[in-house]
Amino acid sequence: MSEGLRDKVIVVTGGGRGIGRDIALTAAAEGARVVVNDTGAGLDGAPGDAACAQSVVDEIKAAGGHAIADTHSVAEPGEAEAIIAGAVQAFGRVDGVVNNAGILRDRMFWKMSFNDFDAVMKVHLYGAFNVSRAAAQHFREQQSGAFVHITSTSGLVGNVGQANYAAAKLGLVGLSRSIATDMARAGIRSNAIAPFAMTRMVLSIPGLDTPEFREKNKEMAPAKIAPLAAFLLGDDAREVSGQVFAVRGNEISVMSQSRPLKTVHDARGWTQETLANRFLPNVKSTLYSLETTNEVFAGEVI
Ligand code: CAA
Repeated sequence: MSEGLRDKVIVVTGGGRGIGRDIALTAAAEGARVVVNDTGAGLDGAPGDAACAQSVVDEIKAAGGHAIADTHSVAEPGEAEAIIAGAVQAFGRVDGVVNNAGILRDRMFWKMSFNDFDAVMKVHLYGAFNVSRAAAQHFREQQSGAFVHITSTSGLVGNVGQANYAAAKLGLVGLSRSIATDMARAGIRSNAIAPFAMTRMVLSIPGLDTPEFREKNKEMAPAKIAPLAAFLLGDDAREVSGQVFAVRGNEISVMSQSRPLKTVHDARGWTQETLANRFLPNVKSTLYSLETTNEVFAGEVI
């Protein structure tokens, strides 16, 4: 019988709504004591409803679980340290971090402002670094701990209008893999999940928030991401680290990681001519098209 997350202390950033909320609820149901962190920001990062973290805590407590709310911003190193310090103060330790907090500022690249790039990087990538770095010291001292980072196929595969988001989400994969390699000796694991879920982020795509779309994709519920996230935080996943998964409804995919697909050698070194006449024809069939996420994950969600 699985121990689930019994007595583990889990921090879920962006836990007040959407995917984070369901991860917090599931972790608590599996026996974890949960820190539900959320500033309550609007989708674009503007100040919003800071009460959302507390309302998830209320739900957890009503079901007999243990949780506290935290409204610090992951984007600031000092505030991220306060999230972890709050977990340790309330529950005596910290065992898992889910870096889920995120905002969205989609724009075609040639129109994207520095501020839109910066704000998205600060929450997704710097936020994940800040919270993970604050937890890492505790994990090392206790020689255990698990990170789950919420990445996206927008970074892994591609999507239009999301240069900031894609850069941050692919950056998270590098961060996760580096944490996994750096901390394996201490028994600490780090994995990433690319979720497909009908959240306010997806419903912000122009023209998508219709009753037909909601009905057709009802299997793409945010709650479908939580079981894998909870599993990766728990001891039953002790052999799993440095991996990237995608979850879409009831499907779970192990995503590929970058390795050489084809290598061409020329003992004389390459010139512009041999690159054009030998290298390119040799590798052409190996090059990736500009397909985006919707083309790669094209089938219906069942
Ligand atoms: N594909 C190709 N061209 C597009 C396009 C698209 N999807 N959307 C807009 N364009 C073109 C327009 O036709 C227009 O072309 P012209 O200049 O020739 O007229 C040009 O781009 C500029 O259009 P806009 O003025 O509308 O561009 P904008 O910079 O304001 O941004 C957009 C438009 C924000 C990218 C909008 O199309 C959009 O929101 N697209 C959806 C982005 C998306 O899929 N986001 C995913 C959100 S969910 C999520 O992020 C979760 C996750 O992990 C996947």
